[in-house]
Amino acid sequence: MNSDALIIGSGIAGCAAALHLADAGLSVRMITKAARPEISNTYYAQGGIIGQCDGDTPQCLESDIIAAGAGLCNPAAVRQLAEKGPALARDFLLIRMGVPFTKKGGKPDCTAEAAHSLRRIYHADDITGREIEIALLRAVAAHPGIELQAETMAVDLITNTHHSTDPLERYREPRCFGAYALNMNTGEVERIVAASTILATGGIGAIYLHTTNPAGATGDGIAMAYRAGVPIINSEFVQFHPTTLYLPDKNERFLISESVRGEGAVLVDRKGNAFMKRFHPDGDLAPRDVVARAIFTKMLNEDAASMYLDLSGVAKHIDFASRFPNITETCRERGIRVPEDPIPVVPAAHYFCGGIKADTVGVTAVPGLYAIGECACTGLHGANRLASTSLLEGLVWGVETARRIAKSGKALSVERTRSIPQWEMPAGTGADPILVQNDVRQLKTTMWNYIGIIRNQSRLNRAKQDLSQLFASIDSFYRLNLLSAPLLELRNMITVARIIAFAAGRNSHSIGCHYLEGKAE
Ligand code: FAD
Ligand code: SIN
Repeated sequence: MNSDALIIGSGIAGCAAALHLADAGLSVRMITKAARPEISNTYYAQGGIIGQCDGDTPQCLESDIIAAGAGLCNPAAVRQLAEKGPALARDFLLIRMGVPFTKKGGKPDCTAEAAHSLRRIYHADDITGREIEIALLRAVAAHPGIELQAETMAVDLITNTHHSTDPLERYREPRCFGAYALNMNTGEVERIVAASTILATGGIGAIYLHTTNPAGATGDGIAMAYRAGVPIINSEFVQFHPTTLYLPDKNERFLISESVRGEGAVLVDRKGNAFMKRFHPDGDLAPRDVVARAIFTKMLNEDAASMYLDLSGVAKHIDFASRFPNITETCRERGIRVPEDPIPVVPAAHYFCGGIKADTVGVTAVPGLYAIGECACTGLHGANRLASTSLLEGLVWGVETARRIAKSGKALSVERTRSIPQWEMPAGTGADPILVQNDVRQLKTTMWNYIGIIRNQSRLNRAKQDLSQLFASIDSFYRLNLLSAPLLELRNMITVARIIAFAAGRNSHSIGCHYLEGKAE
């Protein structure tokens, strides 16, 4: 099974890369483990994507990204996004893909979000990600150069040094040859060989008990890259979104977009008192890590289950229900009358600022392997991500990486690919679902309680210990059982959880979203 390029993941990063590679004449195979290819972090994005807006400059955007990233950003990555991103959002998404961004006076409406110096965010009401993903998948389906296969889950990357049956391959430079992937319908593992392999597998939110991410955000690409010997960096920087709808007895968290505060909503305690000015001079529009910690601290100090978003200020100048129809409907379904009632909100795990070390064109330490979007770490976000930069990151890196591959991706010789064996399925039964579910639960609880919004060394030490024990059990469990998607996800989740725990334990400096109790920033 051969193609010029294998793309693992069909979110914004994977689709942008696929369309540009196929336009350049390469044959593209794109796989996703989801049954519905649109299901991804991209699909759930609400607030928007930085676009071309009046008054903005690349320098202004750069300085906002670096300020939010606590000075730890990679300047080359920030420059690339600031210089190329906004024009791409307009030319590729708005004009070529026809994404129905909300318009004002014939132009895309530019909205505001925390820590941005000006209104620079394109949005499609409050379902921006859904509209982008639908438009991209429509273009993918219509492109004759792209084959998209759903319910196909990458298990591991194929490298000559790990897999080749030719003993001489061990003396050659390590190289990626594609991936083994589980056909989730037949239970068989396919060997997908490709000259270039792009990881676009998204984030890790699902390793936390409470998250805005869908269940499939289990860090698979990061775990696969780690097993293939690629460095994973900045892993202590997990971003928590300050405002998700609090629902007692529910773990999943529905996002209440930052643009609600961008439009004037104010965080209040249960007595209705605003409190953010006490935590940061920018008040409700302070960087995300500051707001998440403020809410968390207030909840702890006041023994409160949530804080609240007061919408009265927003409702004075916009029609809340037509600007935020999805949030309005979701709240009303749960008995919260918006905008009259305040929305109960709590923070939840949202975005991974760390990931697979990659440069400005997706190149990783293993030739033939590229990483883009949320699974990659180019240093763009430093210690904390500025809102609405990650859809744009997926787009820019998808395009730039495709250009780089189209220009210089090297073909694989047939002899070399012949030495890659088929996958050998262990004899065994399917994993006991109760054991898998319990391990998942334990892992998520450990991450939430010990490596959460506010950390300290004793919790991190305990997390490392507990996760190492869990890893040993899961690893032997994995080796003895027939492959299944839940088992593979569990194996990847524990790998990523340990990477985060060890990175957090190593960094004794409190910075950005790695916040250590009692250590001044
Ligand atoms: P994803 O969109 O997550 O796509 C990952 C793909 O990889 C999926 O197709 C998945 O099925 C596939 N995959 C994963 N593992 C495997 C495997 N083993 N085998 C095969 N396929 C696999 N960012 C913004 O810029 N603006 C916003 O307004 C915004 N709002 C957000 C709201 C929510 C609720 C969430 C969760 C995130 C939000 N973000 C926002 C962040 C942003 O959506 C993501 O960072 C971005 O969409 C990631 O895109 P991606 O293409 O890298 O990954
Ligand atoms: C939001 O709408 O608040 C999410 C924005 C983001 O994560 O970039």
